[in-house]
Amino acid sequence: MENLAINGGRPVREKPFVDWPVFDETEEAALLKVLRSGKWWRFAFGQGVELIEPEEGEHSQVALFQNEFADYHGCRFGIAAANGTGTLEIGIRAMNLAVGDEIIVPAYTYVGSATCVLQNNLVPIFVDIDPDTYNIDPARVEEAITDRTRAIMVVHFGGQPADMDRITAIAEKHGLPVIEDAAHAHGCEWKGQMAGSMSLFSSFSFQASKNMTSGEGGILLTDDEAFAAECDSMVWSGRRVGRPWYEFHRLGWNYRMTEFQGAILRAQLKRLEEQVLHRERLGDYLSTLLCELDGISPLVRDKRTTRHGYHIYMFRYDEPFVGPPKQKFIDALVAEGVPAFGGYTFPLYRNPMFLEKKFINGAFPLGTQYHEDIDYASFAVKCPVSERACNTEAVWLPQNVFLGNKKDMDDIAEAVRKVLENKNEIM
Ligand SMILES: Cc1ncc(COP(=O)(O)O)c(C=O)c1O
Repeated sequence: MENLAINGGRPVREKPFVDWPVFDETEEAALLKVLRSGKWWRFAFGQGVELIEPEEGEHSQVALFQNEFADYHGCRFGIAAANGTGTLEIGIRAMNLAVGDEIIVPAYTYVGSATCVLQNNLVPIFVDIDPDTYNIDPARVEEAITDRTRAIMVVHFGGQPADMDRITAIAEKHGLPVIEDAAHAHGCEWKGQMAGSMSLFSSFSFQASKNMTSGEGGILLTDDEAFAAECDSMVWSGRRVGRPWYEFHRLGWNYRMTEFQGAILRAQLKRLEEQVLHRERLGDYLSTLLCELDGISPLVRDKRTTRHGYHIYMFRYDEPFVGPPKQKFIDALVAEGVPAFGGYTFPLYRNPMFLEKKFINGAFPLGTQYHEDIDYASFAVKCPVSERACNTEAVWLPQNVFLGNKKDMDDIAEAVRKVLENKNEIM
């Protein structure tokens, strides 16, 4: 009988998977060019916003990148910023909502999807996810709409677009805008339409783990020119194009992206298409292998997902059926050489920040009593799928694993099979 590596047996795999980030002389040359130019920030190219089509040459790398990324995703305007939490914040600020208004947000996502709401003195209302895709569940969205709801945020979780058919229909029925948190969804598609292009605005992240990266960074995409100009101003501390440097027109942030980041991202964007297709091929292949194993089910790929980004590959571990607690299963898998991870410790509303309402000045939301009665712990009853995903079910694999080859996928499936077959060793 095989011995699990966690108990001293021979691991299925000792070879590392493909490293992330992927880069070469292209990024190196681009960085050196910026370095030697001495123009390290966008203001070196003149004041303010070049929202539309700057040409090659003596142009800001950030401005060029904004246009290239927006173009690729079928949007008119791109506003680059320091990170993806920042682009969510400025987009929501530009919606001009009233203190205490509500925005619907999935319960199973990164904290930035909700802090962007709170940073604007608005109230995140958490909604459960679909058990097959882990994307926001449209049926639950409809139930959560109140007379204070002002927007629905979807997160294209793990690189699979949310059900935009149903979300858009619900939003239209209630006269609400949709926001796409596309931090996981560079180059992804829903029925042939690019993620990030199906809403009032979308937000992408270029943080180190993301499918395109400059270490940190973000971009907001929109088709609305006035909205874009407003967002651009907020990245520049409230400045306005064509007006003096020390003149401020609205409350903003300094969320500017550096020229170094812009240069790296232009190079990363050139790799995106090929990498998306590569991850997609291997991610789909791994699903065919894992489907065969009792107690394991990959998330379902919706037929309308025409491009899956596999930023996070997720499969469901049936803890009640298999036996050992999820974390023990994951520890055993890691020992076999597979970089598996359990994902979020708990759904967002269970974080101490929400349970204790540690928000701006301790108040919630600042200056209102409206929502004193919200008890975030109570969302657990409404979000059983998110609870289960965190506690017993979700197993994550990182995107870089899917830049390798089929043999890598065979090894992962073999490691899962081995742990399942030897589960008695970790009971
Ligand atoms: C779903 C989601 N939204 C937003 C963000 C925020 O991006 P950033 O880390 O660039 O602020 C992340 C980053 O991890 C994310 O996963």
